[in-house]
Amino acid sequence: MDVAIIGAGRVGTTLGAAWKLQGHRILFGVRNPHDSKSNRLVTEGYNVGMAAEVTSQADVVLLATPWRATKNAIQSAGDLSGKVVIDCTNPLKGSLAGLDVPQDTSGAQQVAQWARGARVYKAFNQTGTENMVSPVFGSQRAVMFVCGDDQAGKDVVMQLVSDVGFEAVDAGRLESARKLEELALLWIHLGANHPELRRQFAFSILRRR
Ligand SMILES: NC(=O)c1ccc[n+]([C@@H]2O[C@H](COP(=O)([O-])OP(=O)(O)OC[C@H]3O[C@@H](n4cnc5c(N)ncnc54)[C@H](OP(=O)(O)O)[C@@H]3O)[C@@H](O)[C@H]2O)c1
Repeated sequence: MDVAIIGAGRVGTTLGAAWKLQGHRILFGVRNPHDSKSNRLVTEGYNVGMAAEVTSQADVVLLATPWRATKNAIQSAGDLSGKVVIDCTNPLKGSLAGLDVPQDTSGAQQVAQWARGARVYKAFNQTGTENMVSPVFGSQRAVMFVCGDDQAGKDVVMQLVSDVGFEAVDAGRLESARKLEELALLWIHLGANHPELRRQFAFSILRRR
């Protein structure tokens, strides 16, 4: 699958590497395709270009930008209608005081308004990059919830989640995205404040058989 990743930071490069290993073609959309970071990505075998250039070649677009840059990144990404757009951003207030979107909505629903016509999903926001590198803990896999409206696109996102090694769990329609953003707040809070957990833990599903 051709996956465009807007934002070549920690999340973008971690997921890009994991998907590349699984045989996906990764295209990074960056602000400067000729700086040293971009040149390094090219030498590592990735395609790198301006956002609109790479999204036009991709079936799936991952938004991996800081929340405050996300509207701008979407505007620079050209026509996203019909594309599967995965929003992994977290609209965090400073000092982790909550979500920086009104109570009755979520960052992902805001993204869906900005990315008109795209099929938007929330995923990969609920845990740290440490777990994106390594989501397997002994016999258990970390969970990654996915929400969004169109089922065909959701199947694609669930597969990409599984390709990274997570257990993909369908969390419903995009209106559930706020729950996933609140879950991210909990993970970040524990990662920053719990003396024993730090960032070396993940959420997982236990099933009663
Ligand atoms: N870090 C985590 O563990 C984690 C986990 C889950 C979710 N998240 C969320 O994922 C998002 C990315 O986090 P991160 O840790 O990967 O951040 P990061 O390391 O700071 O990377 C952000 C990247 O976005 C790029 N960028 C900014 N504006 C852009 C634009 N208009 N067009 C294209 N690229 C742009 C930056 O490029 P420059 O290098 O040019 O500045 C940078 O490479 C955030 O919303 C965060 O809340 C993070």
